[in-house]
Amino acid sequence: MSQKILVTGGAGYIGSHTVLQLLLGGYETVVIDNLDNSSDIAIHRVRELAGPNAQNLSFRKGDLRDKPALEELFASEKFDAVIHFAGLKAVGESVQKPLSYYDNNLIGTIILFKVMAAHGCKKLVFSSSATVYGWPEKVPCTEDFPIGATNPYGRTKLFIEEICRDMYQSDSEWKIILLRYFNPVGAHPSGHIGEDPRGIPNNLMPFAQQVAVGRLPALTVFGTDYNTVDGTGVRDYIHIVDLADGHIAALSKLENPSIGCEVYNLGTGNGTSVFQMVAAFEKASGKEIPLIKSGRRAGDCETVYASTDKAERELNWKAKYGIDEMCEDQWNWASKNPYGYESQESTT
Ligand code: UD1
Repeated sequence: MSQKILVTGGAGYIGSHTVLQLLLGGYETVVIDNLDNSSDIAIHRVRELAGPNAQNLSFRKGDLRDKPALEELFASEKFDAVIHFAGLKAVGESVQKPLSYYDNNLIGTIILFKVMAAHGCKKLVFSSSATVYGWPEKVPCTEDFPIGATNPYGRTKLFIEEICRDMYQSDSEWKIILLRYFNPVGAHPSGHIGEDPRGIPNNLMPFAQQVAVGRLPALTVFGTDYNTVDGTGVRDYIHIVDLADGHIAALSKLENPSIGCEVYNLGTGNGTSVFQMVAAFEKASGKEIPLIKSGRRAGDCETVYASTDKAERELNWKAKYGIDEMCEDQWNWASKNPYGYESQESTT
């Protein structure tokens, strides 16, 4: 019998790609999402891409802080595991509105964990972030590095990781995998689902994409004086489909009786500079991205990339795609949906 997985935040960028891989992998999937920062069109598109497996997807509009609704959901369906994506994720906004971040991310998560425990569902995959490594003393980052946070968004990831470790300490029935994502980019190769941020994008590739389609005039490069190959910041960009597949590998790992609370990096192990990424995207799109060189962005670090050893060894998972494929698929999504899911010009 197939497993039934609850995916919180399943209409978002990482969530929607993961839901598609789950369906294609034969899982039954229930999505709960408040659609505050995502679109139900993503769910429709996932259904189209899943073909006959679309019948295994159901969607509930709901907020994790609505405990009675969550209770009702867990009373009506039995879940084998939960993949928990739902949360706010803009660093700058989190500095402006810390209580909103603590309320959404922490309160929502605590209510989710309480309801899970009450219904005997104690298998969890949580979306953490490489942000917990801060400015690492050395690279590649291994999972045993010291962790911290420099802004409220990062603190919510850090706190939830700690809450998970405490839960496992108090009750060894919990099986928890914390996935630390590096920089997810690109889109499903169909170009039907992708990242669709509201407002001006904070992250590099969504911003570059909006410049390429003519929505924004130029990309500001935050810092050209880092001690890197060309002075710009270096990150570990990972194709969103590879990242989504990492969740399937994590679910399989949760079947291992000896798993407690474990953390894994999901990255490629390769560092790419801003200039290198822009050049790859210009090549993929055939568009010139005008650049404005500017000072460093507060809170940014110089070079961050993952050690992938632990995930390769223990999850039997390894990223398959390189930056050319990431940029090609990003452009395919952008050119088909220049204004995202609500795009009038959408060809789908
Ligand atoms: C950012 C967040 C991080 C979060 C992650 C995923 C910050 C400081 N960090 O990571 O906490 O987990 O997103 O959402 O916001 N860049 C430009 N111009 C731009 C945008 C970015 O030059 O318009 C540069 C940055 O300086 C950096 C690189 O591109 O060197 C990647 O930036 P970004 O995509 O925002 O990711 P991170 O900063 O790694």
